[in-house]
Amino acid sequence: MKNFKRYMVTSALPYTNGPVHIGHLAGVYIPSDIYVRYLRLKGKDVLWVCGSDEHGVPITLKAKKEGISPQDVVDKYHKIIKKSFSELGISFDIYHRTSDKLHHKTASDFFEKLYKDGKFIEKTTEQYFDTEANQFLADRYITGTCPHCGNGEAYGDQCENCGTALSALELINPKSTISGSKPVKKETKHWYLALDKNEAFLKEWILEGHKEWKSNVYGQCKSWIDKGLLPRAVSRDLGWGVPVPVEGAEGKVLYVWFDAPIGYISATKALTPDWEKYWKDENTKLVHFIGKDNIVFHCIIFPTMLKEEGSYILPENVPANAFLNLEGAKISTSKNHAVWLHEYLEDFEDAQDVLRYTLTANAPETKDNNFTWKDFQDRNNNELVAIFGNFINRTAVLIQKYYEGKIPEAGEFTQEDKIVFEKISTYAENIGKSIENYRFREALASMMNIARLGNKYLADNEPWKIVKTNPERVKTIMYVSTQIAANLSIICEPFLPFTAQKLRKILNIEKFDINMTGNDNLISSSHIINKSTLLFRKIEDKEIEFQMEKLEKAKKKNEMKIVEPVKNNISFDDFQKTDIRTATILEAVKVKKTKKLLQLKVDTGIDIRTIVSGISEFYKPEEIIGKKVLIVINIEPVKLRGIMSEGMILMAKNPEGKLLFVQAEKDTENGSQVM
Ligand code: 2FM
Ligand code: ZN
Repeated sequence: MKNFKRYMVTSALPYTNGPVHIGHLAGVYIPSDIYVRYLRLKGKDVLWVCGSDEHGVPITLKAKKEGISPQDVVDKYHKIIKKSFSELGISFDIYHRTSDKLHHKTASDFFEKLYKDGKFIEKTTEQYFDTEANQFLADRYITGTCPHCGNGEAYGDQCENCGTALSALELINPKSTISGSKPVKKETKHWYLALDKNEAFLKEWILEGHKEWKSNVYGQCKSWIDKGLLPRAVSRDLGWGVPVPVEGAEGKVLYVWFDAPIGYISATKALTPDWEKYWKDENTKLVHFIGKDNIVFHCIIFPTMLKEEGSYILPENVPANAFLNLEGAKISTSKNHAVWLHEYLEDFEDAQDVLRYTLTANAPETKDNNFTWKDFQDRNNNELVAIFGNFINRTAVLIQKYYEGKIPEAGEFTQEDKIVFEKISTYAENIGKSIENYRFREALASMMNIARLGNKYLADNEPWKIVKTNPERVKTIMYVSTQIAANLSIICEPFLPFTAQKLRKILNIEKFDINMTGNDNLISSSHIINKSTLLFRKIEDKEIEFQMEKLEKAKKKNEMKIVEPVKNNISFDDFQKTDIRTATILEAVKVKKTKKLLQLKVDTGIDIRTIVSGISEFYKPEEIIGKKVLIVINIEPVKLRGIMSEGMILMAKNPEGKLLFVQAEKDTENGSQVM
């Protein structure tokens, strides 16, 4: 393995159209904070950058909704996010922002260099245009049905259901999210990054060169590359973003996913004039921490940009995490089903480490995982309080009680004492290995094992029972316990920085060196420690109930507003164009390799035809055979997963998103017109 001289660590720049929640924390920011804090403890040369991702369509949509400017939106959330990160002890070296001038210049120069070097393909193509709003519809300005999984709410850049990156032109039944109208196609010029030409490089670099990447990351890259890469547009017809620095590109900006990762570079520039050695020297290890929805951008697109530019290094690893659910359901910003960091910090003052601990213990490292408030309470009360806190408290209290805070002289160590120190050394070594391999849950479990070891050591040796009969042995026991506590104060720092600080205060020690872990003489005899304070407090049932009620209230509020607003009026003539008929489902089978699709054969009274319908999550094929349903018979046929679908079954969506059949009376004849 290569010995790197320094580290450049980046964490995904959060979109600035809302605050951050526990999903972001567990996926990206807590693991990267642990990683960087650990490297700093080891004395490594490391820079860690992050900042607000302030461009892109979601921000302009939010501004429109709130009747303020996009700049107002990003100013508001940049402030909230930055403050809450810092209060949780997320220790970026800089939290920058992409609306900053320095970033605009950096991104613009980067584009210009590629442009001048002839790296882009310039193409005029037809794109969707909203004639009512008089603007092109890029990315999230357009929704429609995903051609891959049938999700009816896919965006123009990505389907969040199946994760596929889309181009708006692929959407079935596209609709403008601004006016709700059906867009028309209109010609426009854009610049494309030649991903196709870089296929061989990406294959060699990732598929051959980085087999050690996490399997979810490697797997996604492989499937992307295997499908074949296409040139990707890196400009947009939008008024918000970094202007395209090319003559004749008025009204066009850089695609947000082109400028955002360059934000890592701008942030480093803002941090130090020495930034180039962190981005351009082969001896630097570049690591991107991200969530799984960002894999393609950080493993395929950004590296291609860096390589085409020519003077940059490539990431050594991209440890992406999966998603965190909350109480068994997907975290949702729009439904307010989330635990927002800034609210947590208000509700649980001084319990930053409890959240850090729970989210690390439950981190979605290999697959999606779940956060529950009950688990949060249990982990606090049964682990942090009962094990870690209890050990430290007993040690500090006994040292005060027996020796007025002065660490006693140790006698000869017993075999058991020696084993304790050996075990600490082994755990410390394992923690290092786990962290360096991005296995933070495993590292945290080893850290807790040291606290367990301390607790068990006291429980087994029972100094309180033998203090009268064998005071010499008790001195050694308390000396050993103090050393365990001191070791813990070093090792817990990356995970629980607030606790580490409190613990050092109790031990009356400024700082230790991590290279001393496992040492049996971290604190010498006759050093005086301070009075014990509690490291963790118990979390009461009523606090958990309060949080559960909060989620429940959000759910209720959401159900109330779930009734979709009425669409614009249409003429009777328009309505008459839709031909709705009664029909009977004759056969139903699941479409292979899809979660949502059923292939149906229906008797329309006119013919027997195939319809592919996205209802497989809600109905088993055998349940629906014989159902009398309503279908739109004259909708244009579309191919879904290679199957031609000739019609659409009418379904009603309930507040939970379940699709229910709109049924006709049993004795209605097939083919009857619905009017
Ligand atoms: O998914 C997101 O929240 C994006 N804003 C991440 C951007 S990462 C980087 F490229 F800036
Ligand atoms: Zn999809």
